[in-house]
Amino acid sequence: MITKKKRIDGQVIARDVISSIQSETKKLIQETHVTPGLAVILVGENPASLIYVASKSQKANDCGFHSIQRTLPADSTEEEVLNHIRKLNDDQTIHGILVQLPLPDHINEKTVIQTVAAEKDVDGFHPLNVGKLGRGDLSSTFIPCTPAGVMLLIRRFLGDDLSGLNAIVIGRSNIVGKPMAHLLLNANCTVTIAHSQTNNLSKLTRITDIVVVAVGQPQMVKRDWIKPGAMVIDVGINRIVTSEHGERKFRLIGDVDYEGALVNAAYVTPVPGGVGPMTVALLMANTLASACRFAGYKIPKF
Ligand code: GUN
Repeated sequence: MITKKKRIDGQVIARDVISSIQSETKKLIQETHVTPGLAVILVGENPASLIYVASKSQKANDCGFHSIQRTLPADSTEEEVLNHIRKLNDDQTIHGILVQLPLPDHINEKTVIQTVAAEKDVDGFHPLNVGKLGRGDLSSTFIPCTPAGVMLLIRRFLGDDLSGLNAIVIGRSNIVGKPMAHLLLNANCTVTIAHSQTNNLSKLTRITDIVVVAVGQPQMVKRDWIKPGAMVIDVGINRIVTSEHGERKFRLIGDVDYEGALVNAAYVTPVPGGVGPMTVALLMANTLASACRFAGYKIPKF
């Protein structure tokens, strides 16, 4: 089926998507006078979240969007956060609202997610949008950004119709695993969802054409788990400490033994530089799509 070995460069593909978003945004503004608006809310100062949020706001600026970022103190009450979201729901210049997760413990994540207007929920976390994805009603929902980015990579290399292919999603989170499985099913894959309680996992992966891993276990997926010719997508980002010349260093590694997987696989995404850049690019695509819906303009496909 698939023969040529390849490293999938998410950075190059994400750049290509961003460049298309920039030109589509210009067209939308010229023809409708609607500028896509993205609001990113961060509660508290989780160091990783600060970096993610800054990069999302920056990318929105790069795309030519109206971009606002609000950082609320960690001790904000739930009602203060909800009021903030309600104001953005009513703001006609904002088409996408993202509340960075995780939230401080005293704030109910479910309540926050349900308060974001479904038509501005560019994360695709609102139950209405989750339900539409489950029904395969993709044209009127928002697909969560990481699985949407993974699907774009898969489509670029394997095409739109994955009929006859087996896929396995390792991990069952609401943000990645579950929506990922729905998307693969929708593209006609035969899908297995595996998780921490799955027996004989490597036996399952060895017969599978598309392996998506999102578990947060450094290099869990080994070389001999991979079917010859498979496509392997690594969503994991694990920060590990190494020692170089007696100096402590941090390194990012994925859930897959990348070099090992390359031996058998046709395609493997590296970490960093694989799925990560795609997530931010698809957030921009969702925001543009939301603005297009608002303006009654055709939604571009990437
Ligand atoms: N935290 C980690 N990933 C995400 C994401 O995709 N969206 C939001 N809102 N928070 C996150």
